[in-house]
Amino acid sequence: MKRLVVLASGAGSNLRAILEARARGELDADVAAVVSEQAGVGALTIAMEAGIPAICLPLRDRRDHAARRAYDARLARVVAAFEPDLIVLAGWMLLLSDAFLDRFPDRIVNVHPALLPDDGGPIVATSRGMQPALRGARAVREALRLGLPVTGATVHWVTLACDAGPVIERAETPILANDDEARLHARIKSLEHRLLPEAIGRVLLERSGRSNGAEEEMIVVGEMR
Ligand code: GAR
Repeated sequence: MKRLVVLASGAGSNLRAILEARARGELDADVAAVVSEQAGVGALTIAMEAGIPAICLPLRDRRDHAARRAYDARLARVVAAFEPDLIVLAGWMLLLSDAFLDRFPDRIVNVHPALLPDDGGPIVATSRGMQPALRGARAVREALRLGLPVTGATVHWVTLACDAGPVIERAETPILANDDEARLHARIKSLEHRLLPEAIGRVLLERSGRSNGAEEEMIVVGEMR
């Protein structure tokens, strides 16, 4: 069984969606641990109720660069102890530095509450034409402020550039006349709850296909010697 470590700073509805997909037999992956930098958040409660190790790693000073890197290195050690096949940022609100990313190359995915383009650029193609790609922590509010016709959710690989890694899955929702931030975010989250488990399942499947191939290659080399 593949192992996930979920990093989550908030209510944990995406964590719950992963656990529910697992329970329905739609996702072949166990959540090995949940880590949050915030104490008392829903994500930690959901983990504890599910009997999953729930770890709070508080970050005291976000602005001190050295402390921030030390935090990421410590976070990496904690996550590595659970030997994850994939690390899932499910409402994780801290940017991760190379002190963390270099430890887990091509093994971190993020869910983001807006439409992001495949090329990491500033513009995304939607069913209603080209729109700005909304990155960062206020993407839902920004979509409303700009009066965009559509927004959505994206699951993507995590790279050093914020919310700009290669896209795995994306889905759209229209922005309705009576939407406020809470209503729109709730609709985006319902997209995320479908998209995130699907994307995790897809990348794990692709990975296991690839690593099986590599194992066959290694056996052939061994026999030839
Ligand atoms: C989700 O909408 C997720 O896309 C967003 O936080 C929410 C977490 O909800 N993430 C970001 O904005 C990251 N930049 P949840 O705690 O209920 O899963």
